Formats: sequence, C-alpha cells, structure tokens
Amino acid sequence: MVLVSGAGTNLAALLEAGVDPAYGARVVAVGSDRPGTEALERADRAGVATFVHRVADCVDRAAWDVGLADLVAAHQPDLVVSAGFMKLVGPAFLARFGGRFVNTHPALLPAFPGTHAVADALAHGVRVTGATLFMVDEGVDTGAIIDQRAVRVADDDTVASLHGRIKDVERTMLVEHVGAMARKGWTIHDRRVTIS
Ligand code: GRF
Repeated sequence: MVLVSGAGTNLAALLEAGVDPAYGARVVAVGSDRPGTEALERADRAGVATFVHRVADCVDRAAWDVGLADLVAAHQPDLVVSAGFMKLVGPAFLARFGGRFVNTHPALLPAFPGTHAVADALAHGVRVTGATLFMVDEGVDTGAIIDQRAVRVADDDTVASLHGRIKDVERTMLVEHVGAMARKGWTIHDRRVTIS
C-alpha cells in the first residue's frame, strides 16, 4: 500500500518492480490526500485501486486520521509506504500501522527534517546530503532509520537539480528495501531495523 501526494516517481518505481513476481512485493492500493495528482494517474494506468482522503472532507484532523487508517486497513497491507505523502499521520493510524509504515525523506536525517529538506540543506551549505528511509513514528522524521544514501552537493546546484539527484538514489533505496522487507521480514530493536 502506497500513500502519495504528488508526482509519484517513487510510486512508479515500486509499481514497476512489483511486475516481477520474484520481487516479493506488489502495490495493492494507492491512497492520496488530494485529488488529481500525477501519482493517482500512474496508479490508474497500472490498474491499482486508489482512494482520495482529504482533511477538508473530515470534521477534524483526528477524524481524518481514523478514516485514513480504515481506508488503508481495508486493503490489508503488510507494509505501508509513504512516498511523497505530505501529511503527518496521527495516533490512530500509528496504533494500527506503527512498525510497518515507512517513509522516504530527501536529506540525511536527523539533519534537515520537515518539508523543505532540500532547500534547507542547500541554504546551510552542506557538501553532502542524501536520502533516508525510516520507520514512521509520532515525531516529524524522527523514526528508526532503515537506510541512507549520500549525494554530493555541486557548486552550481539548485533545489531542483539537487532534488533530482537525491530522488534517483531515494528510488533505488526504496525499491531495494521494500522488496527485501517483503521477502525476508524485519525487526526493530533500539532504533535498529534489521531486515532478515
Ligand atoms: C521525494 O523526494 C520525497 O522524499 C519527498 O517528496 C518527493 C516525492 O517524490 N517527500 P515523488 O512524488 O515520489 O515523485
């Protein structure tokens, strides 16, 4: 199950990987917090079930969170992937999917959490940044780290050029680990995620 908000290039990589039965994981459904996104179109083209669940359609954020958990649970996923999903989930969602909800972030956490990670890293003048795959917990980008990949910052990088190179390594990392987790299983102890 993949949650999205935007372009869905990470989703596209997972959809493509899942075509091969040996990969071990298949996207059973795609959920979005907003309608009309490219990510939803990608899911439609791949023949995968979709839903849109907007905060604006719920009485409050807590109700949205419960509703999201119900919509996701209906597809009985083993793993939930946040791939460019620009919403923080709440306690109801984490009570049901904590420990099997992963997210990708375009920086080397714990540096540059939040929604402007690439711009923040560039503004800070770091020479190396990258992507982090982690287990979502109740904090903002604070969960146990599954893997990280580094990307060098070029002198002439813009947010777009740097984010483009980060997304290349982010996609590869996501696809590798989602497949491995599905095939081998995983455990989490003291912030260490072991896939085996
Ligand atoms: C990714 O870089 C993700 O880490 C960030 O937004 C981007 C989503 O890209 N939160 P896409 O929608 O998968 O193309």
